[in-house]
Amino acid sequence: MSQPNHESVNLSSPFMGTGGGICILAIESSCDETSAAICRDGKILSNIIAGQKVHEQYGGVVPELASRAHIQNIIPVVDQAIKLANENLKPEILNLKSIDAIAFTQSPGLIGSLLIGTQFAKSLALTLNKPLIAVHHMQAHVLANLINESKPAFPFLCLTVSGGHTQIVLCESPTKMKVIGETIDDAAGEAFDKTAKLLGLPYPGGPLIDKFAKDGDANKFQFPEPQIPGLDFSFSGLKTSILYFLQNAGKSHVYKVEFLATEEEKEDFIKENLNDLCASVQQRIVSILLNKLKKASIETGIKDICIAGGVSANSGLRKAFIQMGEKYNWNTFIPDFQYCTDNAGMIAITGYYKFLEGQFSDLTVSASARAEW
Ligand code: KG4
Ligand code: ZN
Repeated sequence: MSQPNHESVNLSSPFMGTGGGICILAIESSCDETSAAICRDGKILSNIIAGQKVHEQYGGVVPELASRAHIQNIIPVVDQAIKLANENLKPEILNLKSIDAIAFTQSPGLIGSLLIGTQFAKSLALTLNKPLIAVHHMQAHVLANLINESKPAFPFLCLTVSGGHTQIVLCESPTKMKVIGETIDDAAGEAFDKTAKLLGLPYPGGPLIDKFAKDGDANKFQFPEPQIPGLDFSFSGLKTSILYFLQNAGKSHVYKVEFLATEEEKEDFIKENLNDLCASVQQRIVSILLNKLKKASIETGIKDICIAGGVSANSGLRKAFIQMGEKYNWNTFIPDFQYCTDNAGMIAITGYYKFLEGQFSDLTVSASARAEW
């Protein structure tokens, strides 16, 4: 398969479809959200996200079901993204031909899910003879912070917290980033979701813990903060501590046969203390995250600081992050809610910056479950 040499795209060429602006159509399908977005000159015109309720009953994402739902959702989602962009652009009219490039999530994620978005984007690029831009999902989470009018100045730090990743990223430019700290075991989102499961809450548990924590006492129960050197994180010890604490109906954080409660005692303990348990666990996860971010700021001397990823939707984290920023004179940035969890808006903004730098892919590009960036 051959593609035109898009590296030589002239920014004022007839290639520019919509009134001279760079117009990107973006697709995100790395996990269980099918999303399409359109951005022009770095401004998001539409961001449509279709969730997948089918996984709730299984307590986690079922890869095969996710792939099938992406197949069903992808065309309607792209269709709606174009319609909404048109409403925002009126009286201008935008269609597939006026798109300048197609950006898509190439990695990381569930391979079956990534394949749907990748094949769709490649087919569209081939049919319309448009350039293709492969995007790394974690880079896109970071760059969601460039969507708002108020943007961090380079170099900035970003705490990226999602269902599969927990990283502190040093960003020197939109396309030059370095991971300077990351989890050595579970991700922060996993810590939320696994705790929720132990509390008998459905998947994804993060937003539910956030909700119950609002009416809870965060100081009622003390959970341990791991001592991990450098800027790395660990959440597996916290998970074990919560497991034993619940199995012991709140009597101890360690496993001892004499503390073990019956199933009924455990359930009663959870029922009576659900809000306080959620608030206490959330406070500990937030303090683990922010203490490392503070350390990263001190070590690098950087004070423009962002958070990103699904867990950055957490109200406890958002509030504590802003408070920490006020205390240490940081300029703090948080994406709007719709750009925290998985969305194509962040893929579109990343596609826009890659377009500016001529970073295109050819049609031999393939999806990858894991990839360095
Ligand atoms: O970024 P994301 O949508 O997908 C991945 O790339 O993984 O992140 C999903 C994660 C899940 O673990 C979910 O429970 C968590 O983000 N999450 C939250 C909240 N909203 C989403 N965790 C805590 N509080 C929330 N409000
Ligand atoms: Zn994500």
